[in-house]
Order: sequence, then C-alpha cells, then structure tokens
Amino acid sequence: MQPIAPLLLFLSLLTPVWGWGMLGHRTTALLATRYLTRPTSRQIRQLLKPQSLVTASTWADYYSHTPHGRYSAPWHWIDAHDSPPSKCGVDYSRDCGETGCIVSALKNHTARVNDKSLDWEQRQMSLKWVVHFVGDIHQPLHTEDLARGGNSIHVKFGGRNTNLHHVWDSSIAEKIVGGGGIKDAVNWANDLYERIQKGEFRTEGKECKDLTKAEDCALQWASETNMLMCGYVIPEGGLDGKELSGEYYEGAVEMVEKQIALAGYRMGMWLNQMFEGQELEESLWEQMVGLWEEL
Ligand SMILES: *[C@@H]1O[C@H](CO)[C@@H](O)[C@H](O)[C@H]1NC(C)=O
Repeated sequence: MQPIAPLLLFLSLLTPVWGWGMLGHRTTALLATRYLTRPTSRQIRQLLKPQSLVTASTWADYYSHTPHGRYSAPWHWIDAHDSPPSKCGVDYSRDCGETGCIVSALKNHTARVNDKSLDWEQRQMSLKWVVHFVGDIHQPLHTEDLARGGNSIHVKFGGRNTNLHHVWDSSIAEKIVGGGGIKDAVNWANDLYERIQKGEFRTEGKECKDLTKAEDCALQWASETNMLMCGYVIPEGGLDGKELSGEYYEGAVEMVEKQIALAGYRMGMWLNQMFEGQELEESLWEQMVGLWEEL
C-alpha cells in the first residue's frame, strides 16, 4: 500500500488556473538561483529543506486551491480598476482590497521569513509565497481587474478554446520554448540568463531592492507590469473569440521573455537582500531528524 500515489494523482488534477504556469514559475526560480550569493543559497536550502527553490515556486497555486488555503488566493494579484487600453495604472488604496493583494502580501511575507518569533513552518510558507509572488507580479493579468484578470475573455490558442489569462500564464510561454516540462524550464532559464548577461532586457531607472520599502518596490513592479495592459495585452476592439497563436503571439514573445527575465533577476536580488547577514539556523528538517533519533 503506497498512500502517496493517490495524493500525487490528486495534486496533479489540481491544475492551477492562475499564476504563471509551472513553466513560468520554475524558470523564474531557476533564473533567480543564478544570482544568489553563496550564503543566501545556504539559507534558502536550510529553510526549505527538503524542497528546492524550484519546487517551492509552484506550491502557492496548489495551496490556494485547497479549502484551508483559499484565504491566500487574493494575494496572487492586485486588481487594478483601470480601463485598458485607454487608461492604465495601479492605485494601492483603490486596488489592494480588504483581504490583501500581491503588494501587501510581498511586504508581509518578506518580513515574516526572518521573523524568528514565528514557527519554522510559517517562515517556510512565507518564503514560498515571496518566491511565487515575485513571479506573479510580472504577469500583466495579475495586475488587472478587467474581466476577472482576463479569465472571462474567451479566446482561442492553436485552435483550442481557452481564456486570455491562461494564454498569458502558460500558452505563450509554452509555445516559445516548445513545451512546459522541467527540462524546458532549465533550457529557458539558461537562455534568458545568457541574454541578461549580454545586456538584453534592460530597464530604465534604478532597480528597487530596499526591503524597508518592500511595498513601494512591489507597487513599482506591479505598475510597470500593468502598463503592458494598455501597451499590448488588451488592444482596441478587444480580443473576444480571437485566435491568439499567430500575430498576437508573435508580438507578445518579447514581452513575456522580458517579464520572466526581470522576475528571475529581481527575485535573486530580493532574496540576497533578505538573507544578507542572517545567521544560519538549524533547519526544521534537522530538528525533526534529531527528534526521531531521540525516540
Ligand atoms: C501576514 O501573513 C499572515 C500569515 O499568512 C496573515 O495571517 C496576516 O493576515 C498577514 N498580514 C497582512 C497585513 O497581510
């Protein structure tokens, strides 16, 4: 009897309906790994044990789809009440909402990771959320209220019925790399890393990485991402019923690559800031192993 098998099957049926798909999150996490300092890598390994950063990056979508994790769903986005394509913009007090949003959640969980008064599990969850949200905040439809972040805009991609949100979460990315598996994520992360090193995907202005201004940084990222709503995602005349795997896809490739590259780079920098100067602690895993040995 292997009780784990039905659980895995159950989890695989819970395909997330939002958040960069598995490919986007894994690629961002892999990319971030390239920028981590050695002490940060050690801290992260210790806090996540026995999971890896890549595995941890997709956890939040599964969790928010469980009955006891549902409270965390609104943290995956900020619902900008703007009106693309004519007017875009994120306004924290107008758009964040009472249950919190991706901006407040990034601030909250960034602080909680190193809050030693919290349980190890709580801090581990916070780290998994931070990693996931730095990814999601770069997906344009996670910064938009319109049509439930595009979930209600019905379109086609490669002849299949889908919705605009899913196209930006997964379809475009999977078409760029030709698949959605872990190998595709590794190849994509390697490619994007080389291109970042060569100076592609440059941004104007200074990169935000001051943790004491976590909310401002997150809001800046969300605002930048949201500009794509007016710049491309929602064209004049709308997209209802349209096939998006042709011309629309071609025009989106560069944007999706840049968003994933930025998310990976920023995640790396953010994590370095978070763990800079922190003492390495005994992990929960080691605490547990110690406990078993005592029994
Ligand atoms: C911060 O996160 C904790 C744990 O998930 C949650 O209970 C709390 O409501 C959050 N606080 C804010 C201000 O978002």
